[in-house]
Amino acid sequence: MALVTTKKMFEDAYKGKYAIGAFNVNNMEIVQGITEAAKEQNAPLILQVSSGARKYANHTYLMKLIEAAVIETDLPIAVHLDHGNSFELCKSCIDGGFTSVMIDGSHHTFEENIALTKQVVEYAHAKGVTVEGELGRLAGVEDDVNVSAEDASYTRPEEVQEFVERTGVDSLAIAIGTSHGAFKFKPGQTPKLRFDILEEIERLLPGFPIVLHGASSVIPEYVKMVNENGGQMPDAIGIPEDMLRKAASMAVCKINIDSDLRLAMTGVLRKHFADNPSHFDPRQYLAPARDAIKEMVAHKITTVLGCNGKA
Ligand code: G3H
Ligand code: 13P
Ligand code: ZN
Repeated sequence: MALVTTKKMFEDAYKGKYAIGAFNVNNMEIVQGITEAAKEQNAPLILQVSSGARKYANHTYLMKLIEAAVIETDLPIAVHLDHGNSFELCKSCIDGGFTSVMIDGSHHTFEENIALTKQVVEYAHAKGVTVEGELGRLAGVEDDVNVSAEDASYTRPEEVQEFVERTGVDSLAIAIGTSHGAFKFKPGQTPKLRFDILEEIERLLPGFPIVLHGASSVIPEYVKMVNENGGQMPDAIGIPEDMLRKAASMAVCKINIDSDLRLAMTGVLRKHFADNPSHFDPRQYLAPARDAIKEMVAHKITTVLGCNGKA
């Protein structure tokens, strides 16, 4: 099996009322943990690379790790640029073998977002690469840019048809109350997603794949593991998993998860060092960290995404 685009994955996910997990990758253990879980669950997969990950690990290293995962698992895997912020970055990823890119023009005006997204779509489609656009603005931190809750805004359903028609995008990320990072809601706040907006978009764009960013659930057990082993994470609240499962059964075909993997890895590493203060062979601590990623991804595939057995 070679790398695939998101096209067929999304068609099947839409019809089957499940979603594909898009997990961020930064190094070998993360790629291995995610792909081993997907292999065991026979799940299609999107491995996504942010510009920060690309700076950290280098494009070629990440591509080769992902190509190795395709050989090892024989799964349909798409390699996707997460939050591309310019035509040049998208072009560089497309030229470098990515099968899908996101152009995130959500910080621009509607017209500027359309122009930028259209430019990326024209280039990408000529090379057989799929494109995700974004309308609406999530709160939280991505690539060191912090969008405050006041600057965030829900997607306006009345804009989606025009955006999709004029840009030609293959999928659309929308803002319905999710946000990036581990601190999505304030302590005492009840998590809420605007399913009415999702329903309206589903009605306006029948069959069209929708993407949810900022979809980590921030599982308390891992926050506890971090804090019981020397960490100092303040109260963190994420998106309840049953809400994500509901979204996956609707038009949402791609669910982005990064923070939950970071948290699992950090919790297990902290515990490992607390329990084994003399360890200094990286394999001694990176193996359990990799296992933690694997366990978390298997949990997401079976509990949140419902894409087990769909590869
Ligand atoms: O949405 C952002 C992702 O969690 C990636 O984060 O830009 O720190 O790699 P990053
Ligand atoms: P989380 O921070 O909720 O994991 O979201 C990740 C994401 O949206 C990556 O694009
Ligand atoms: Zn995101």
